[in-house]
Amino acid sequence: MYMVRICSLGAASQDVFMSGKNIKSHLDAIEHDYVESFKLGAKIEADHISFATGGGATNAAVTFARQGIESSFIGKLGRDIPAEGVIAELDRDNVDSHQVIYDEVHGTQYSTVLLTESGERTILIYRGVANTHRPQDYESIDFTQYDWLYISSFGGAVDALDLIFHKALASGVKIAFNPGDSELDQMDKLKPLLEDIDILIVNKEEAQLIVDGSDLEELTRHLLHIVRLAIVSDGPNGVMASDGKTIVRAGMYEDVKVIDRTGAGDAFGSGFLSQWSQGRSLKDSIVFASANSTSVVTKIGAKSGILHKGATLHAMPLSEKDF
Ligand SMILES: Nc1ncnc2c1ncn2[C@@H]1O[C@H](COP(=O)(O)OP(=O)(O)OP(=O)(O)O)[C@@H](O)[C@H]1O
Ligand SMILES: [Mg+2]
Repeated sequence: MYMVRICSLGAASQDVFMSGKNIKSHLDAIEHDYVESFKLGAKIEADHISFATGGGATNAAVTFARQGIESSFIGKLGRDIPAEGVIAELDRDNVDSHQVIYDEVHGTQYSTVLLTESGERTILIYRGVANTHRPQDYESIDFTQYDWLYISSFGGAVDALDLIFHKALASGVKIAFNPGDSELDQMDKLKPLLEDIDILIVNKEEAQLIVDGSDLEELTRHLLHIVRLAIVSDGPNGVMASDGKTIVRAGMYEDVKVIDRTGAGDAFGSGFLSQWSQGRSLKDSIVFASANSTSVVTKIGAKSGILHKGATLHAMPLSEKDF
């Protein structure tokens, strides 16, 4: 049987999650918002700690690998211990990382996540290499060995994306793109690039930065003027997707208790492509994407909830009509 080959491009990070009774939020009278705050010089005891690697591209790569796809990751790492953690976790899931780019100056992205019992969080993030993608880093990379590129947050390096998209296009490699905030901030530069991609995965707010529209259907229809397949998600309110032939509207897969929503979007987008790339229908691909992301929000970290091949799925509220 032919094995689909997908390369995930973008961020990798080492994350540490800490929680416990001393890590909590309160309503601040001056900020008029909830805050987590600590007295200067204090030593705050955490009851629980867990280490997990993250970064959109490595999270996606793990979804692909667990769905029986030949999965690779390309992104930037520093020469440091967090990088070893990232590679070890990719190895455990059989994700190929032989084309990873090492930066001799900056460190691997690293986050300290302070989780409260209600599932809220504050993140201290060092971006390091995640903000240093340059076109020349990708000039000599061979993309011809992949069927698809899955591209997520790219540290605002739209020039590097331009080069990658052109290389992919020239060798007939298809592109699925889940843009990050720093790319979306540069809409003038980004918009012309979107015409080269096959699948665009965005949430509602992100879709509204690209096209006009007030509801998911309007946004999806407008995005289809630019890309071949558009997916617009809206957290627990559901999702809309269309390939220009039919349009699918799905609700919530399951009303679960959210423990940590890190990686929900990654699990959704990669979950979709893991099925679509293997020839499944729009509907079935949306069901799997929803199940994968729902499972991820019930566990700490972006990878531990990612579904394995053969996981049992159940039906969900979903309707399909002609486009
Ligand atoms: N509270 C929740 N309960 C159940 N499922 C959820 C919840 N939040 C998100 N999901 C699942 O994750 C999917 C993607 O979430 P969302 O639309 O919030 O994406 P996103 O804003 O891109 O996320 P991210 O911040 O991770 O990039 C949803 O379509 C849904 O299947
Ligand atoms: Mg997202």
